[in-house]
Amino acid sequence: MAMETLLPEELGVRATYALMISCIAPRPIAWVSTLSPEGVPNLAPFSYFNAGGANPPSIVFSPTNFRDGRPKDTLRNVEATGEFVVNIAPYELAQRMNETSADFEYGISEFEQVGLTPLPSRFVKPYRVAESPIQMECRLFQVVRHGTGALAANYVIGEVLCFHVATHLLKEGPIVDNRIADFIGRMGESWYCRATPESMFWLPRP
Ligand SMILES: Cc1cc2nc3c(=O)[nH]c(=O)nc-3n(C[C@H](O)[C@H](O)[C@H](O)COP(=O)(O)O)c2cc1C
Repeated sequence: MAMETLLPEELGVRATYALMISCIAPRPIAWVSTLSPEGVPNLAPFSYFNAGGANPPSIVFSPTNFRDGRPKDTLRNVEATGEFVVNIAPYELAQRMNETSADFEYGISEFEQVGLTPLPSRFVKPYRVAESPIQMECRLFQVVRHGTGALAANYVIGEVLCFHVATHLLKEGPIVDNRIADFIGRMGESWYCRATPESMFWLPRP
């Protein structure tokens, strides 16, 4: 097949971002709840997100710098408090998840703005999203910065202290029944995908 080679330094940061999120897709979405040092709740989605290990359970997400180079509220809060909760948004919560990505002023709670219920956590201070069927309480392990200025990466690595899972999603294992979880993924431009049973296939490992 004919191929094109694209260089980030020729594309510039904005175009590199657009290309990158359309190449690496679909991506899971961490809906991250934090608290400011003053105790104001914050909630925002991050699709630069994945698991990294299970002993201990380890996850990473990256709040990049804003276009003007400022750190996002989530990063400020995580670095100040060392705690966060990763919530998972199924299709039903997609709209409200997206609304929490608006750049609200520091000190404004996204929970209130979009009508979500803050639920106290067991091991950390930030709230869980009561409407979310999967909530993971996390403690900060390390922040790894890569680059400076607009859209530079800040890899937030965290340890999952506990998993809260809605009973109706759990099956023996215990695992989450992916056939009924109605997960969504973020893709390029403003595309998302929805993991319906018809879109899944089963492939046992050799
Ligand atoms: C589905 C989705 C995924 C997103 N993923 C990221 C991401 O991985 N990294 C990032 O920096 N911003 C991401 N954003 C944008 C942030 O959510 C947005 O900048 C938000 O205002 C940050 O909030 P905060 O300043 O309260 O931390 C995403 C937005 C949406 C809707």
